[in-house]
Amino acid sequence: MEGLQRIRIGVYDSGIGGLTVLKQLLMKIPFGIDFFYFADTARLPYGSKPQEMVRGFISEILSFFRHINVDAIVTACNTTDSLLTEAEKNNLWVPFFSIIDPTIHYLRNNVSDKNSIAIIGTEVTIKRSVYLRKLIIDENISGIFQKACPLFVPLVEEGLSDGELTEWIVTYYLEEIRRISPNYLILGCTHYSYLKTVIEKYLGNGTQIIDPADHVSEKVIEWIGKIETTKKSSVTFYVTGSAEDFKRKASLLLESSDELVVSHVELEKLGEFIHL
Ligand code: DGL
Repeated sequence: MEGLQRIRIGVYDSGIGGLTVLKQLLMKIPFGIDFFYFADTARLPYGSKPQEMVRGFISEILSFFRHINVDAIVTACNTTDSLLTEAEKNNLWVPFFSIIDPTIHYLRNNVSDKNSIAIIGTEVTIKRSVYLRKLIIDENISGIFQKACPLFVPLVEEGLSDGELTEWIVTYYLEEIRRISPNYLILGCTHYSYLKTVIEKYLGNGTQIIDPADHVSEKVIEWIGKIETTKKSSVTFYVTGSAEDFKRKASLLLESSDELVVSHVELEKLGEFIHL
């Protein structure tokens, strides 16, 4: 995509997890894009809630993005990505960037003979088994394991990405995976990227960690094409919970020296966008 008009991209997650995706996007596309990051902080975690309820949340977020007129949507949330059907994603009014698909594509091009893969994610993501179903058809893969780790999201939202408690919880969930020692481990929830160092240390060198945030950003870059401006990319944040709380967490995680622009969206108001 070329031209002087600025491209508007909506990125969303339930909370701070998707900032790992946003950070990559800002690093790789520093000019010419207006990003709009939506975090449904009042209703997280998504991954432990009933699927129909979370599907309702997605509809509201998509309607909000339609209202603010974005040109593309990047899901920085594996849980919602796994809940949407291919048809739903392909039939949106703007391109929708899945976080799961480019990761599958990368792995299928990189696994070699008799590799094994483990997937960790929220309860919804693991129940939906999208990663598993898309990878199991590859004959190079000798084994696939998956595990839901429901305490990881609250842990990260609390700012506990390392320390004794985190190490203990990582051990609690990943003991079996460590025993299996798979060739790859997919961090199937964007919040889990913040636990990467602890997980890597626990699993050891034999297991390569795959962070889907790396792969979705590459797809977006491909779609954008050449940028013909030197005007910095911008980000506007919307949250359903406390704007102050989010601003503090996001400034730290994005290592941003700029003052972040964070607006609070009332849940009641968010629900109304569906009918507009
Ligand atoms: N970070 C999201 C994901 O990638 C959602 C986590 C949650 O709210 O449970 O799945």
